[in-house]
Parts: sequence; C-alpha cells; structure tokens
Amino acid sequence: MSRTDETVRPALQAAWDRPEVDVTLRVNGGRHRLRLDARVTLLDALRDHLGLTGAKKGCDQGACGACTVLLDGKRVVSCLVLAAQCEGREVTTVEALSQGDEPHPVQAAFARHDAFQCGYCTPGQIMSAVALIAEGRAGSDEDVKEFMSGNLCRCGAYPNIRAAVRDAAGG
Ligand code: FES
Ligand code: FES
Repeated sequence: MSRTDETVRPALQAAWDRPEVDVTLRVNGGRHRLRLDARVTLLDALRDHLGLTGAKKGCDQGACGACTVLLDGKRVVSCLVLAAQCEGREVTTVEALSQGDEPHPVQAAFARHDAFQCGYCTPGQIMSAVALIAEGRAGSDEDVKEFMSGNLCRCGAYPNIRAAVRDAAGG
C-alpha cells in the first residue's frame, strides 16, 4: 500500500461507516438545515431531529402506512425515503393540518365517525385520506378501500375510517 493509500483509506472507511450529509428540509412551511447520517430516513429526521412525532413508526419497512406524510403533495411512507432525498422538496406532516384550535376537515370527520381506537395508525390514515381526496380518488367505499389499502389498522377501525373519508370527501 502506498503512503497516500494509508492516509486516505481511514478517511474513506470513516465516510463509509458514518457518511454525513447537509440537508435542508422544508417541512410544513419552515426550513431546517440539518447535518445527518446519509442513511437517516425522512421519518427519523422528522421524529428525532425536528421533534415532529405525528408520523408514527410502525413496521419501519414500508408495510403499514403509519409513517405516511406528503412529499410535494404526494403520499409517501417516510420510513422508506432518505432525508437526503428530500433536499428542496416540500414535506407536509399531520402537524400542519389544523389551524390553531380548528381541526382540518378530515380530522374533524375522523372524530365524528370515531375512526380510531388506539390511534396509532391515525396520523398516517389522515395524511393518506387528505391526499386521496385531493387526488379525487375517494368517490366510493371501494375506491377508499383500494387506495388506502397501504394504511393498516390493527384495531380494525376500517368501516369507520372509510365513513370518515367519504364524509370528508363530501360523499
Ligand atoms: Fe413506515 Fe410502517 S412505519 S410503512
Ligand atoms: Fe389502533 Fe388503527 S386505531 S391501529
């Protein structure tokens, strides 16, 4: 090994072991400059670095929808998105929905229809519903069932969730 290799190799190994990136996250209208391990997910950045704990960690592998947020207005499971991929993009979390004491219409519909039991899946269900309605895909119970199939509810509150989404969609 050359002398240069000996000098460079530890630095490369360190970067490999713990590569860090500077990321500016635009979340709920605010901008946050963060230095993060490049492997940090958007979900962990929101919860652990920005204190936004509305998005929940259920499976941490893209299977339950509890971590759903909007990225440039589209639904994503934030446990499968790297924070570093979100540079310059707009992230919206459940914390942005209510206006002061006034709940968002989807939140109000969930309350009216008792669309939760333990509530763990609820922020993800609500974010998914907000996007679904904006996409015009909440026109029937079947549509809601189909297009929210990525949001699991271990408590089985599905009939009430569907009713709340249909109500909020004006159906
Ligand atoms: Fe992200 Fe389950 S925690 S999909
Ligand atoms: Fe408990 Fe959905 S309300 S998991």
